[in-house]
This record gives sequence, structure tokens and C-alpha cells, in this order.
Amino acid sequence: MKNNFKLIINMKTYSESTNKKAIKLAEVCKELQKEAKKRNVEIILCPQNLDLKDVVKSKVKTYSQHIDVCSPGANTGFIVPYNVKDCGANGTLISHSEHILETKEINKRIKLSKELGLESCVCARDVKTARKLAKYNPDFIAVEPAELIGGDISISTANPKLIEQSVKACGEVPLLVGAGVKNGNDVKIAVELGAKGILVASGVVKAKNKKKVILDLLKGFE
Ligand code: G3P
Repeated sequence: MKNNFKLIINMKTYSESTNKKAIKLAEVCKELQKEAKKRNVEIILCPQNLDLKDVVKSKVKTYSQHIDVCSPGANTGFIVPYNVKDCGANGTLISHSEHILETKEINKRIKLSKELGLESCVCARDVKTARKLAKYNPDFIAVEPAELIGGDISISTANPKLIEQSVKACGEVPLLVGAGVKNGNDVKIAVELGAKGILVASGVVKAKNKKKVILDLLKGFE
């Protein structure tokens, strides 16, 4: 599925998306894959590492939330990219706003991901950073203004200009956007401005009816 839209659900370390609840969310996403496909959207789940293997089993595309620069061996407590790939994950987030890395470190991880056949989604908080990171050619750049993350006002309503400018700044690299995204209308605005997908966390994870929210988000891609 090339050139399709992405809906990345970052499960962070919320208790509502940990352990058995991670598997449950994965099952909901699996169920909604038909609805996603109809709208040319690929759902990607991004569980914390403890849940990675279980989520992979759901057959929903899965990314790690982070990788370190190291090989299998004596690396206590690190996230080894080779092992992420080996357990069946398809990609990784890099430098999320809650796990920021220096440019040099980001570049190392993009290269490593390419070598291993992992997709890379690099996060940026503004246009300037997005432009700089696009030069390293990750698979996606996700722009998320840190001050809107976890809140009730979405990037689409608070700062549509940021979406427009980031699309231009990223050139050939598809732009995803996130922060405060809650519903299909937020998605619709972002897509109309040129975004190729959404990165969402609390809007889905903390929702009582996750299926309903995800379905609404998918409708925004129509
Ligand atoms: O990675 C997604 C994220 O940082 C946005 O979080 O809770 O505002 O959807 P949230």
C-alpha cells in the first residue's frame, strides 16, 4: 500500500493501553482494518516495548516508540533495533517530543532503520526542525507542537498554518501531524492542508469507546 494515509496510534505508557489493554486496542484496530482500507488508510500501532511482541501478533502494523543505536549483545536496558525487527515490528518512531534526541543521533537511527528495513517516523516540533530532518530522508516526519500534546485543542484548529508550512518544508517526505487530535474534523483539516496522516495518543487511548473514536478519525480521511 504505497501513497496511502497513515493513522499512527501512539500508546505511550498509558495504563489504558498497557498489557491486556494493549492487546484489546490492537484487536479493535484489527477489526477496523477493513474500514481503514476503504479510505486508503493504514493503521499503525505504537505500543511501549513491553507490549510490542503481543501487539505484533494482532497483525496490525506495529512500530516501536524508540530505538537505540546498538546491536544485539551486552546492552542492558537498551532497545536494540535488530531485535525490534526480529520480533516482527515494522518501524519505529524517532525523537518523539517526550524522548527528544539530537540531530546527529536522529540521523544514526534513520540510517540504522533503513539498513534493517524498518520504517522511520521522525518527530519534529516546528517547521525549522522538520525542514532540517527532511534532509535525512526518513519515511515520514510527524510535526507535533509540544504545548498541544495531550490537550483538548488540536494542531488542526490551533495552528493550521504550521501544517501548511510543514508540508512545504518536508518536500518529498510525507508529513504526518499530531497533538490534541480528537476527531474526524481534526483529521479532515490536516488532510486538506496536505498532511498524509495523523499521530494520535490520548484522544484514542483515553476514550471510553475507542472503536467509535478510531472510526470517526478514519472518516476524516474520506
Ligand atoms: O505521539 C502522539 C502524541 O504526542 C500526541 O499526543 O495525546 O495529543 O494525541 P495526543
